[in-house]
Amino acid sequence: MKLGFIGDIIGRPGREMLQKYLPKLKEEHKLDFVIANYENASHGFGLTTKNCSELFSFGVDVMTGGNHTWDKKDIIPLLETENMLRPDNYPDGVAGTGCRVYEVGSEKLAVLNIMGHYGMPYVDNAFRCAGARVEQLHNEGIKNIFLDFHAEASSEKRAMMILLQGKVSGIIGTHTHVSSDDFQIVDGTAYLSDIGLSGCRDNVIGMDAKQPLNQFLTGLKGHFDIPKKCKKILQIAIMDIEDGKSKEAYKLKVFDNGNIIKTDAWIEE
Ligand code: FE2
Repeated sequence: MKLGFIGDIIGRPGREMLQKYLPKLKEEHKLDFVIANYENASHGFGLTTKNCSELFSFGVDVMTGGNHTWDKKDIIPLLETENMLRPDNYPDGVAGTGCRVYEVGSEKLAVLNIMGHYGMPYVDNAFRCAGARVEQLHNEGIKNIFLDFHAEASSEKRAMMILLQGKVSGIIGTHTHVSSDDFQIVDGTAYLSDIGLSGCRDNVIGMDAKQPLNQFLTGLKGHFDIPKKCKKILQIAIMDIEDGKSKEAYKLKVFDNGNIIKTDAWIEE
């Protein structure tokens, strides 16, 4: 199966890029299934019901979350629906779930969402939770497994890859909004520390630069806004998976003028 993954969609500019380019990308790259992270999709914080429906209509099949999952109250009923996830390592009793299995053609695909620890809310151990969940999926005979690891620290992301290499089809990081340059396939596991944002590519992590800059200059916190006008980007990772293993993977940076930069994942022998 050919799987696409889009990381943090930042507000309207991010949604507009998916609207404009995702249907075309799905067709041109013969994508069977697209996963995207929703946690910043509505004005940078959380997700509304309206924006959720829009993103599915643009061609997203399943959405994952993170620490900003809870920023809009609409999320509670949305998390009860089949195609919505939040990090799996929130403690028992918290709304929603972090792992579901989907039918993709004649195959099964498990989508897992885990949140890291550095700079994040106190949740259950990311590594133990991911390890146990993957073992459970293997016991159920599910080989195609994709993990959105929503974490700040690249060290946590790299350690997760070492823990799960050869056991899952792909691990791609989200949350930093900044793309890393380490896309690789190790023992059939496609790994990228962070896919980077889809939204405004100028300014600061997709948000209007004025407030973050003021915060760094003064030490005073304020509300972050989405820029009214900006240069945009859509970033998508594509994995070709056979029998649970990624055989080929590449990343596309799609710019708002239609230019595309493709980067292949290297394959570790
Ligand atoms: Fe986040």
